[in-house]
Amino acid sequence: MTAHVALGIDIGGSGIKGAPIDLTTGQMITERVKILTPAKSTPTAVAEIVAEIARQVSGALPDDAPVGVTIPGVVQHGVVRTAANIDKSWIDAKGEKIFSEALGRPCTLVNDADAAGVAETRWGAGKDHDGLVITTTLGTGIGIALTYNGVLIPNAELGHLEIDGHDAETRAAASAREREGLNYKDWAKRLQRYYSTLENLLWPDLFIVGGGVSRKSEKFLPRLSLRTPIVPAVLLNGAGIAGAAALAADPAADGVA
Ligand code: BGC
Repeated sequence: MTAHVALGIDIGGSGIKGAPIDLTTGQMITERVKILTPAKSTPTAVAEIVAEIARQVSGALPDDAPVGVTIPGVVQHGVVRTAANIDKSWIDAKGEKIFSEALGRPCTLVNDADAAGVAETRWGAGKDHDGLVITTTLGTGIGIALTYNGVLIPNAELGHLEIDGHDAETRAAASAREREGLNYKDWAKRLQRYYSTLENLLWPDLFIVGGGVSRKSEKFLPRLSLRTPIVPAVLLNGAGIAGAAALAADPAADGVA
């Protein structure tokens, strides 16, 4: 039976955020707890914070509530395989085991964009959309979630597509706009190149654009000319937390479970 409440914890470059999630609505049951990501974000340092967040929200959750945790890297069978924008000591770390030991209970570890995509297709901008939905998170890197009829195909690392000789996220992520001081018009040209490449390769039914910058989507989405509908994310900050909780409670939503 699927649980009705689960804890989601989202590990990001600047903050680690967690909250108990109502799995019927995807909403947080209590206010989320946020703790700054340590400067040296090694598995041990991050695991301590994950355990602290779980302690702080424990009053709002049954002891056996599922726990889902996200990480900005590929996760295969609980092991972190890549670390493009996190401490390199994560590569090949047994993340799920490390967190489970720190939490004193089992947990499910998933890629951050996969969690956001699951939440958006279940409760957000992709709700009621059939077919292939590609959720993209534009932040430090570019995260991608592929969901087909709501089922996740995990670990699609298409933020690293090589386009015009570059790793796409180094040109089109939100961090590239900030780093290079681009205005939205010039950044949108890069997004145009990125999203048109994606749509020509995968022919999705819908693009969802998440990440903090999606709050300003009116500055760049109208500049894009694509055959695929493209819409801003709805859950914004809460998507990673909600999706982690959903995947922990219902591993069948993940195509490989
Ligand atoms: C990583 C992905 C991650 C994305 C967003 C990329 O650099 O390779 O695994 O989902 O950033 O954080």
